[in-house]
Amino acid sequence: MKVLLIGTGGREHALAWKLAQSPKLTKLFAAPGNPGMAENAELVALDVDDHEAVLAFCRSEAIDFVVVGPEAPLVAGIADRIRQAGIAVFGPSAAAAQLEGSKGFTKDICARYNIPTGAYQRFTDGVAAKAYVEAQGAPIVVKADGLAAGKGVTVAMTVDEALAAIDDCFDGAFGAAGAEVVVEAYLDGEEASFFCLSDGKTALALATAQDHKRVGDGDTGPNTGGMGAYSPAPVMTQDMVERTMKEIIEPTIRGMAESGYPFTGVFFAGLMITAKGPELIEYNVRFGDPETQVLMMRLKSDLLEILYAAATGTLDEVKAEWSDDVALTVVMASKGYPAAYDKGTPIASLPSAGEGEKIFHAGTAMKDGALVATGGRVLNVTATGRTVAEAQANAYRLVDAVDWENGFCRRDIGWRAIERETR
Ligand code: AMP
Ligand code: GLY
Repeated sequence: MKVLLIGTGGREHALAWKLAQSPKLTKLFAAPGNPGMAENAELVALDVDDHEAVLAFCRSEAIDFVVVGPEAPLVAGIADRIRQAGIAVFGPSAAAAQLEGSKGFTKDICARYNIPTGAYQRFTDGVAAKAYVEAQGAPIVVKADGLAAGKGVTVAMTVDEALAAIDDCFDGAFGAAGAEVVVEAYLDGEEASFFCLSDGKTALALATAQDHKRVGDGDTGPNTGGMGAYSPAPVMTQDMVERTMKEIIEPTIRGMAESGYPFTGVFFAGLMITAKGPELIEYNVRFGDPETQVLMMRLKSDLLEILYAAATGTLDEVKAEWSDDVALTVVMASKGYPAAYDKGTPIASLPSAGEGEKIFHAGTAMKDGALVATGGRVLNVTATGRTVAEAQANAYRLVDAVDWENGFCRRDIGWRAIERETR
């Protein structure tokens, strides 16, 4: 099978690395890709916002299957265009991608199908939103409806903070994404990410992971795209996985199909495990970054086979098997991230990764024959172990052998799970 993978981050490097292990793969292209992905794929300089150019490439190379990594092209309808042309594609339609693109849309599906989530209201004007906040009290959560690069959510501990967040949204801090606001109840518990494939009719549970969103050790400082992750998430016991499938995922698949937007692709559910059980915080319609890096380290099955089954309505014929080992990834970022940082800083050398280890590239590039850092999140140093503590020790040993002066990372990825292991 000839495959085109769309994307450029650490998530896509992990997908490329795993796709390349498939006996069914004859050729892998990545657009635009990165130097790490060049080990596994031929890089193509395509503008992925130009859907016609992507389609023309698929036709000229006789691509059998397209895998879309990031959400922006999905929300822009790239999967619809490729599917219309008769080429199999992994990723939801633009209509189904509203599950990530509009928080209000997702909340309405939850309400209609009785899916556990925080109580909420949608607002298009500040006065009504503020009256609701005053009536509910704090803590309370204010969210811009649309995609705001992870910055549109305020978990307000006081009413004043919530009122200010409402003003920000309606004053245009998030552009069009903030033209509508969702105010929802604060959920207390431990967070986990749950990944599951759907072909529009059936679901296949993948695995669980935990991200570390804050930039600093001990979960301090501003939010980022994710500074590290591990899988599995110990809070997701077998019972919690079964409840999540039954109470959250299956009704969502049914709801999407009945609404006329059957969902094919991956559900990445952000869950809060509260005293009542799993509750939905949000859906993403693509693989997580850096969660995918740890999932791919643990996946024993053929990734190409299961993604293709999701894309072609045959998910009930495949299984996903996972290693019992823990995988843990540490994100190395450019100093200054998530605020301003220098671009083009040299990465002098990378250690060679042994068995159960892998350094995935995110924001790297080749410049005059040398590897440089071009992004905020740059390398995902990943290792496995029998316990989280062991995987963490292995990952940091590899981190310490990276020679990149302008890089930094958190030193405590996995701390919550390690605390649990030593209890
Ligand atoms: P989101 O962009 O919806 O994932 O929200 C970003 C982060 O805000 C989540 O990962 C949670 O840590 C937090 N959050 C969002 N919604 C809630 C909620 N209802 N209660 C508590 N925390 C929340
Ligand atoms: N790591 C969080 C995300 O991919 O959205």
